[in-house]
Parts: sequence; C-alpha cells; structure tokens
Amino acid sequence: MVAKTLYGLEDILAAELRELGATDINPMNRSVEFAGDLRVMYAANVYCRTAIRVLQPIRTFRCADGDRLYREVRAVEWGRFLDPAMTIAVDAVVSHSGIDNSLFAAQRVKDAVVDQIREGTGRRPSVDLIHPDLRINLHLHENHATIALDSSGESLHRRGYRTEAGKAPINEVLAAGIIVLSGWDMALPLVDGMCGSGTFVIEAALMARRIAPGLIRRQFGFQRMKDYNRTLYDKVIAEARGRVRKEMPCRIFGSDSDGAVLKEARANAKRAGVDHDIVFEQKDFAVQNPPAGPGVLIMNPPYGERLAVRDIEALYRMIGDTLKAKYRDYTAFLFTGNLAAMKSVGLRTSRRITLYNGPLESRLLRYEMYQGSRKQKNLPE
Ligand SMILES: C[S@@+](CC[C@H](N)C(=O)[O-])C[C@H]1O[C@@H](n2cnc3c(N)ncnc32)[C@H](O)[C@@H]1O
Repeated sequence: MVAKTLYGLEDILAAELRELGATDINPMNRSVEFAGDLRVMYAANVYCRTAIRVLQPIRTFRCADGDRLYREVRAVEWGRFLDPAMTIAVDAVVSHSGIDNSLFAAQRVKDAVVDQIREGTGRRPSVDLIHPDLRINLHLHENHATIALDSSGESLHRRGYRTEAGKAPINEVLAAGIIVLSGWDMALPLVDGMCGSGTFVIEAALMARRIAPGLIRRQFGFQRMKDYNRTLYDKVIAEARGRVRKEMPCRIFGSDSDGAVLKEARANAKRAGVDHDIVFEQKDFAVQNPPAGPGVLIMNPPYGERLAVRDIEALYRMIGDTLKAKYRDYTAFLFTGNLAAMKSVGLRTSRRITLYNGPLESRLLRYEMYQGSRKQKNLPE
C-alpha cells in the first residue's frame, strides 16, 4: 500500500505505520510504501495522524499516451471492485510524462473503467465526484503509471471536528506532524498563543488522550468497497476506543485575540471531544500570562497577506519580545510562511525545518528560551 502525506512528515508517518504492525516500510517523497493485511489498512486509516490518504495499488505499467492508458486500465478486472450500481470518481496526478493534463488522464481512466463494466454487464457505473462509492487514483510520473483504489475516500485531514470558517486554519495533518516534530512529550504544558480555530491544541489533546482521529470521523472509502469487512472494522474501532485515556496527562492552553475565532475553536474542540482538556482564553499574545516553564509553545502567527510590511514586522518583533519576557524555560516553535518577517523575531533559532503549507514553502523555527545565555550545545540542526 501507499500512504500519502505532506513534505517533511514521511518519517513520522513511517513510525506511525510501524506501530500498527505494517511491514516493508519505505518512506518516499510525500508518501510511505508499506505492506499489511486488511486490518493494517483499516488501522492506518483510523489511527494515522499524519496520513492524507491510504492507497491500495492494483496495477502498474509504463504509459506515454492516452490510448495506452485506456488499454491498460481496461485490462484490469474491474468487476472485482465494482458493480454497475456503484458510483466512481477518478483522481489523477501526472508529472514529467507524455500525458501532461491530469483532467484528460482522469477522463481516460474513467472511460476505460466504465466501458469495461458496461461490456460485461450491459450497465454502466456513473460518476459522483463528491461522494463516490469507489475513488480510483492514477499516479503517473515519468510515464510510470500506478492505478490504486483509495481506501480513505475523503482526505484524512478532514477529521470531522472543524468547520470551514476561520482565518487561515492550518491543515490538521500538518498540525499533528508539527507537534510530533516539536518533540513535545505530553507531560509539559503546551501553549498556542494565536490558536485561531484551535487546530494545534485540539490535535495535541487528541494525542495526549490517545484518541485516534478515526474515532471522530467514522467515514472511510473502504466502507463502501466490495470487500468491506464490517466485523473487522468494528474490531479496529473497539480497540481504538479501548486505548483512549480518560484522564488528561498534561495541560493545554489556547488563546487568540479574536473572540469570533476563539468561539469556533471551542466548538471544534467540543466536536473533537476534547473541550474539557483545553483552556481557551481571549487574550492578545503580548499580555497573555502562560503557565510557568518549562513548557512548549507552538504557534502559527499571521503571514501578513492582509497587513502592511511595517505592521507584520512589528507583530513578529512583539512575538520575539514576549517570548523573551514571559516564556522563560520554554521551547518555542513558530510556524510561518513569511520567511522575511521571521527575521523580526530577533531571537536565535536552534533548529529550522522546511515544510509546506499548501504550496507555500514555510519554516518551523525552534527557539530555546532558557534563562541566561541562550547558547545551546548539541542541538540537532
Ligand atoms: C494563521 S492564524 C492561526 C491559525 C490556527 N493555527 C488555526 O489552525 O486555525 C493566526 C491567528 O493569530 C491571531 N492573532 C493575530 N495577532 C494576534 C495577537 N497579537 N495576539 C493573539 N492572537 C493574534 C489571529 O486572530 C489568527 O487567529
């Protein structure tokens, strides 16, 4: 199988899959190959915090044009996976290949599947782009094609707790990955002083209470597949329920200056079942008093699309000054796509990690807010 993820989170996802009993784990670029049975596939969807989707490849072939693509896809015995009454959608990702148009590629795949089923049964499956019974994935890179079934359906970052409103919320998978990258050990307090819709604090609370994301979402592509094993899925879910911690092992704080987004954060936390595990407060970061250190701060300040350069520099300077004044003995992480503004923080970073927020190259910056000298020894770069 192949689990897709975001740039920079491959090793974290590989570790998650190992924990679930997957074998032959091979981290690639924005994805991880692995092997496992149906239980592992269900568990990967239910548990993995850093997977975007889990694909089950069914055929690979070389292909430089649309006719070859059509023939190869038509050669798959689609009756194993599809009845004519089922609906389908095709997602295609193409790069550096004879076919350079993903919509065209998806169309050819769809035609091949539909024609083959119609030939065999006299009836044709129809297309449903939003809620198909079967999502088929084509990955075409340098004329090397892989056709896969998408066991996740809707992207796994849609955990089901967040509404779409809010200002520039961070992707849930990225937020979970950043928390793991921070090395937070779920014992120290965790603070987000610009929490927006609450993604970091909610993901952190889910981790601390060992609530699998799939316990909230409960909807996966594999449930509509022909080989769906309901008993096995119920077992995976029951096991996941059994792992949930009733007690919170640490304290988590989210604050934001904007009352409207904070209201939304509270509602999101409630939907995720962790509203009692997070203390929310409406406060400007400059005047917020965090719990005494040591602690971990993870924060995703505005990038400044709607602010003048002067104001964004002042905002990042305020963040640096506040960290210095109030976050003694904290390890602070700022995640930003504004590579110019981060210089205004005015503190020395102990680590810089490149990640992408959608298409935007971003940095996760680590600052050690120790008392006295900030010269650090032996920190990984
Ligand atoms: C990029 S958004 C954070 C998104 C958040 N990580 C999420 O998942 O929704 C930046 C947030 O910083 C907040 N903010 C801006 N200036 C602030 C300040 N001085 N103090 C506290 N919050 C502030 C904004 O209201 C906004 O919600």
